[in-house]
Amino acid sequence: MDISTLKTELVSLIESAEDLPALEQARVSVLGKKGRITELMKTLGGMDPEARRSAGQVINTARDEITALIDRQERSLKKQALESRLAAERVDVTLPARPDPIGHIHPISRTVEELVEIFAAMGFCVAEGPDIDDDWHNFTALNFPPGHPAREMHDTFYLPDDPGETGERARKLLRTHTSTVQIRHMVDHPPPIRIIVPGRVYRSDHDMTHTPMFHQIEGLVVGEDIHFGHLKDCLTRFLEAFFRVRDLPVRFRPSFFPFTEPSAEMDIGCSREGGRLAIGAGADWLEILGCGMVHPNVLRNCGIDPERFSGFAFGVGIDRLAMLKYGIPDLRTFFESDLRWLRHYGFAPSERDSVVLGA
Ligand code: DAH
Repeated sequence: MDISTLKTELVSLIESAEDLPALEQARVSVLGKKGRITELMKTLGGMDPEARRSAGQVINTARDEITALIDRQERSLKKQALESRLAAERVDVTLPARPDPIGHIHPISRTVEELVEIFAAMGFCVAEGPDIDDDWHNFTALNFPPGHPAREMHDTFYLPDDPGETGERARKLLRTHTSTVQIRHMVDHPPPIRIIVPGRVYRSDHDMTHTPMFHQIEGLVVGEDIHFGHLKDCLTRFLEAFFRVRDLPVRFRPSFFPFTEPSAEMDIGCSREGGRLAIGAGADWLEILGCGMVHPNVLRNCGIDPERFSGFAFGVGIDRLAMLKYGIPDLRTFFESDLRWLRHYGFAPSERDSVVLGA
């Protein structure tokens, strides 16, 4: 076929493509592996050198023109597509407001508000610290030196080292517990100390009852003559107020945390009769939190004299508290952002009575 007839044919094929997929199809049929121009190039191999030179020039020019035409056509089709989208997707600012304009408070936020209210009534302040912390604050200063077996339970996510620091302070990580803020607070504030620390924490776990990010609240009290009786009274009052139960049965079981000595797990009385959990009644126990007397090494690491001061600390999972109080069965649903779930378990901003008993 004569090249100029072929060119006319291909130009009209390209110009008749109505959208981008049709243009792509035309491009493949002309310039693809088995395309018309490509096939024509292949015939050059069988020609004598003289003929090849002149035919080669003609074919190359035709190919360049066709390629330029395809590019032009593509730009114009893209522009057309954008223009028709802009016309079709115009926002109608006269639409009436949605029928349910009231947002919902997430059960975690609600639980944090309740915890803050309860502890504020007992004279605690809220302290905060960064989610990205370092090995020293997360472990070493809390009396888990490098190589300590208790680090095993806190596998986390590491970030590049901080070049401005050395040793354990250079190793950046996502904090595995809010206990880091005990250290951050004590190095800056002399006793008496009475703080709670609500916040996000991270571990590399993911199943029905573990998510890589979850929430804890830490508590720390340091002063002269602070003893286990203060711990017991404070935590019992907190749990009575939170679960709205008077005379809550509690028990402390010996446990181990590197940063407390002695350490304990605190259980509260409950019943599981008929598969229903009822807190405050019955003969069963439910493990609720970890606590203990602040280890002298931790006080020393923060420049506080353990001969003069003593303290107690505790740590609780906020998500678990919310699940128990509001009957939410699956931890993972907290972080799925499903609006139907939030409408069901969330709270209206006005739905708020005091959680402090007797207030
Ligand atoms: N940091 C502990 C954890 O994440 C929880 C904890 C236990 C905190 C005992 C405390 C404490 O302050 O005294 O497993």
